[in-house]
Amino acid sequence: MPESSHPVNKTLAGKICAQKSANLRGEIYIPGDKSISHRALIFAACAMGKTKIYGLLESQDVEATIKCLQKLGVPITKEQNKQANKQINKNITQKKNDIHYAVYGAGIDALQEPKEILDCGNSGTTARLLAGLIASRKFNAVIDGDKSLRQRPMDRVFKYLKPLGVQPRLQRKKFLPLSLGGIQTPLPIECKLQSPSAQVKSAVLLFALAARGVSKICEPFPSRDHSERMLLQFQANLKIQALGKNKHANLASVDNPITNKNINTIATNTPRKLIIEGGKTLIAPTAIEIPGDISSAAFFILAATICRDSEIRLLDVGVNPTRMGFVETLCEMGADIRISRKKNTQADNNSRKSAQKENSEPIADITIKYAPLNGVKVPAERAASMIDEYPALAIAAACAKGKTIMQGLAELRIKESDRISAITQGLQKCSMRCDQEKDTLTISGANIGQKNIKLQQESININAYGDHRIAMSFLTLGLALSTSDNKHKIIVDSAEAIATSFPDFVQRMQKIGANLKKIQ
Ligand code: S3P
Repeated sequence: MPESSHPVNKTLAGKICAQKSANLRGEIYIPGDKSISHRALIFAACAMGKTKIYGLLESQDVEATIKCLQKLGVPITKEQNKQANKQINKNITQKKNDIHYAVYGAGIDALQEPKEILDCGNSGTTARLLAGLIASRKFNAVIDGDKSLRQRPMDRVFKYLKPLGVQPRLQRKKFLPLSLGGIQTPLPIECKLQSPSAQVKSAVLLFALAARGVSKICEPFPSRDHSERMLLQFQANLKIQALGKNKHANLASVDNPITNKNINTIATNTPRKLIIEGGKTLIAPTAIEIPGDISSAAFFILAATICRDSEIRLLDVGVNPTRMGFVETLCEMGADIRISRKKNTQADNNSRKSAQKENSEPIADITIKYAPLNGVKVPAERAASMIDEYPALAIAAACAKGKTIMQGLAELRIKESDRISAITQGLQKCSMRCDQEKDTLTISGANIGQKNIKLQQESININAYGDHRIAMSFLTLGLALSTSDNKHKIIVDSAEAIATSFPDFVQRMQKIGANLKKIQ
């Protein structure tokens, strides 16, 4: 399998070693949601006015989006509120409320032709969302990425845009580098999305924003709805209709419109139609607050669940219903997870209009205690709501009693690495039973916590294939494994990949008592 190359992050560069831990304790904030951070920056860049973004994830992927938008002529700066205490609070148990990123948008039409290549690094979301946006521009641009991103399909975005005259130039018809642009008048789109990809949906929505007229996008298999919530906060003319229950019917004909101004009134798995008026200026909403990332929280939820005698609390985590598949599945396996203090991100801001408040992101505290797990069958329909969490779920399954079968995983083959193969190889190296098929993983749990396992060597080196989530998953497994003398170590080689989504993962894990350290 090819590996990706990552810029060096000094705290993570090299190898990280995980050893048995128990009694994890503490209350911590999880860094900002990656998906929402990308969207906040991109929509703010397309809006009129200054948007302050609080809690933006400071990671390599989000940095790539900032740099690309700056190359498109959008000023973005890191600022601190004047009245705030100049002492920056470095304590990760508290939020840095005064620090924010300011995006000075002047509308989509003010975006400028970039003089340089738009380098998206390792970030698929940056590449795909910018592709949708730039496809609507008269100017030309080249989008590229690192070794791993150059192997991930980009043609999926253009399936819906080509019929409107968009002419992407891709390597081998599918891959980056991509050169794009030069369209005269973007026309509205009418399409039915063929797979539950939020990146593709968002790219299509960004194109539709600039189109002259009303676009209608049917979503038979709903995916994360951060773009829709963000668009409503930027006062886009977007209506969301719940459609009939039969996902396989012709959606245009079973259309049973319940026009919603409030996204929360539609059940998560209900097919929908998004109706968006293009050519309307987005209005900057003054401030956006990014919730903690449930996909990063997943490693802490996993750690506390599989390490004996643990109890931790994660504060202000995004609990958007389209992202809760991992928590749902772990609870089915027997995990002890409680969600409390649920509110919306903009709840404290009384001046905000209620429609904006209602459509902002739900957040909550999550309390997790150690619990023995049992294997389960995870249905394919749940994949979209936990697509990034399968590596973490595979570790939970490996620790559980009994067999776990995960189906409908084809997309995992084309993420930052081939995650199905990376998980299988890693677990097999830890003497665990994991079998892969085309889109299915079957893991026979080792009943960790109740039983010691026998490792072939004291130190197990895991190849994360340059994939941040594979690296964090196996480090978390290293905290829970029990052997007869507990002298074993799990070592992850390419730990710098973690910086794409969670640069202070090790530091935060250490804060709750995890036995993780950097080695030379
Ligand atoms: C993302 C959507 C998902 C996810 C990715 C982030 C997003 O990809 O895997 O990490 O921000 O929209 P797909 O939409 O391609 O499934």
